[in-house]
Amino acid sequence: MTLLNNKQQLAHEVVENSNPTNNIDFQTIISRRLNRRSILKGGTGLTAAAFFGALPLVGYSADGDSSPIKNKGNAAAIPAQGNLKRPETLKFTAVAHSTAETMSVAAGYKAEIILPLGTPLISGIDDWKDNREQSAESFEWRMGDNHDGMWFFGKKGGAYDAKASENGLLVMNHEYVNSAELSPFGYDVKEDNNAAPIFQSRRRASDVRREVNCHGVAVVEMKRRTDGMGYEMVRDSKYNRRITSSTTAQLTGPVAGSDLLKTKFDPTGFQTRGINNNCGAGLSPWGTYLTTEENFLGVFARGQDASQLSAGHNYGRERYGATENFPGWEYLWHTPDAKDAKIADEFSRWDMTAVGASAADDYRNGFNTFGYITEIDPFDKSSMPQKRTALGRFAHENCAYAPVEQGKPVVFYMGDDARGEYIYKFVSKATWSNADIGGGLKAGDKYLNDGTLYVAIFNENGRGKWKALVHGQNGLDVSNTVLPFHGQDEVLVFARAAADVVGATKMDRPEWVSVSPMTGEVYVTLTNNKYRGVRDDQPVSAANPRSYDTGGKALGNDNGHIIRWAEAGGDHAATSFEWDIYLFAAPSDLSAENLSQLNDNNDFSSPDGLYFDPRGVLWIQTDDGAYTDTSSCMLLAALPGNVSDGTLTTTSAGQKTRVGMPANNDNIKRFFVGPAGCEVTGITMTPDFKTLFINIQHPGNTWGAVAGGSTPRSATVMITREDGDVILAESFV
Ligand code: FEO
Ligand code: CA
Ligand code: CA
Repeated sequence: MTLLNNKQQLAHEVVENSNPTNNIDFQTIISRRLNRRSILKGGTGLTAAAFFGALPLVGYSADGDSSPIKNKGNAAAIPAQGNLKRPETLKFTAVAHSTAETMSVAAGYKAEIILPLGTPLISGIDDWKDNREQSAESFEWRMGDNHDGMWFFGKKGGAYDAKASENGLLVMNHEYVNSAELSPFGYDVKEDNNAAPIFQSRRRASDVRREVNCHGVAVVEMKRRTDGMGYEMVRDSKYNRRITSSTTAQLTGPVAGSDLLKTKFDPTGFQTRGINNNCGAGLSPWGTYLTTEENFLGVFARGQDASQLSAGHNYGRERYGATENFPGWEYLWHTPDAKDAKIADEFSRWDMTAVGASAADDYRNGFNTFGYITEIDPFDKSSMPQKRTALGRFAHENCAYAPVEQGKPVVFYMGDDARGEYIYKFVSKATWSNADIGGGLKAGDKYLNDGTLYVAIFNENGRGKWKALVHGQNGLDVSNTVLPFHGQDEVLVFARAAADVVGATKMDRPEWVSVSPMTGEVYVTLTNNKYRGVRDDQPVSAANPRSYDTGGKALGNDNGHIIRWAEAGGDHAATSFEWDIYLFAAPSDLSAENLSQLNDNNDFSSPDGLYFDPRGVLWIQTDDGAYTDTSSCMLLAALPGNVSDGTLTTTSAGQKTRVGMPANNDNIKRFFVGPAGCEVTGITMTPDFKTLFINIQHPGNTWGAVAGGSTPRSATVMITREDGDVILAESFV
């Protein structure tokens, strides 16, 4: 793991927990009994032998009727071509548990490190130095730190081509920084106990500048190697670009121009500087990149200013973790001496304390300009990132669209990754037109600036509801005493507080979402939650049913699970659904918790990254700390069935719930294990299925270091078959 001094917390281990509501209690009184009829319907055997593009599969709607869900995954910008059959069974040899310093991939495959932290995207700047002495400014043209969500955009003739594999733009997030391994000085702070609470530790200007530039997004042109195996970066490509935490971004949608977004930088409330803590990522149906702002809380500080704010807005800040005298996490970007700033407000803009006469005089609202799904057109270097406020403000993990259909709204699913936070979806007002593929940010304006944000309620009976977060509906008005909602801008900026009001279900940290191209069912990883069944406001529930003690620690859901649902009638705009738990993660020898019957070949813990490839194979990545004595984080391949294909079960906490069909060596297998200390995250496949890219964050030891060097580096891993065939080719034999 990353070296820490006692001042430093690791961002990936810090999980915010700001939900004070007891929404789940409201849920539990609705019903504790599972709907028997829906359980009896299970076991329809749709798990295998289903072909993408073949006859429609049958899904089950929440009202109890069966209805066809057509395979529509190929209708939009999804890169899909050639043989779209899904394997019936996984035939590669499972990768064994490993805690080695190196990575391991299934036999017959090759895994190579590419684009590590610091890699220059242009000529004329030095290569990364192991002593970390390259300048802070140079990172505007280098790969950033902690590579995360990404997407491969096929390119032909200078434009996006969903089917092009020879050449493409690999676009990826740089989520956060490992401060101690980034600066030549290590994690260096000056202590001053006489300063105001949020300034008692001060950082160096150059370190903060370097960190700001190591966040954001990288756009890198890749071309296939001359031997046809894998890719290499096109250095100096006109597309190569870094977007960082200091790049100007546009705020769009219902909140743009609101008083809540007005700052000294833009008193009109339409622009902000920087995109931050970009975690999961995805494609839009029209071919742009959707990145997410997750743990933006950590780079802000808040002093003492409650008396300057309305009680509602004070609560709104606290609901996102920003209480008074909050110094932020270890980053302390607001703390370097102002005399070292190169541009106005370079550091002070990270301090959200209301100190001026009005919002136009300070950065009290800087915090409100982060936490959005942000759209980037990688093919238009001159374009600004667009923060899409209509999709709500929270710790966004990723954003996955449902298969689009001509004339129907476009639907996006999203999770808020903090303990006890919620799952959301956005339904566009505009209806889909295939003519918008390739439409860039203009298409984004059409689909992402106007629509309805919903939050999920998972009832105990295996059914669920979507509640609209619309001002004036569902109690979202000034009558709400904790945070009176005066307009839709307040509903969206304080989406968590709005979701509290409508009784949303507190989940075990919703991470990535992915929609099956075969069944249209939606899958979400719930990575873990140490407070489940521990804190009174987070009792076990059917959708979050485990809380257990492994070796004397407090109870809680240590290993996580994956939930899924089928929208009523197969309609993604529907307001009800039927759900079950696809898979419980657990060490295979933890028998009381191993409810999905995992074995040595497929057991895992803390699912996080999640990706259905266009053939319907589900790839599961882990970000774990609970099972890492046995195995480092990993990537598994899986062939899921559908909601209701399993049984009713009772957890060790005495909670009844529905679990999907058991795991076996045919339907889920470990494909890759990362180096010790890392998280495996971010995943994309080339349109010809021959190359799989994944990312490795915060590796330990010297993984990713230059030859002879000692500083480990986050990097992308490029996986190909040794024989050049498609990924999982052996499973089709
Ligand atoms: Fe950035 Fe929730 O992981
Ligand atoms: Ca994650
Ligand atoms: Ca995680």
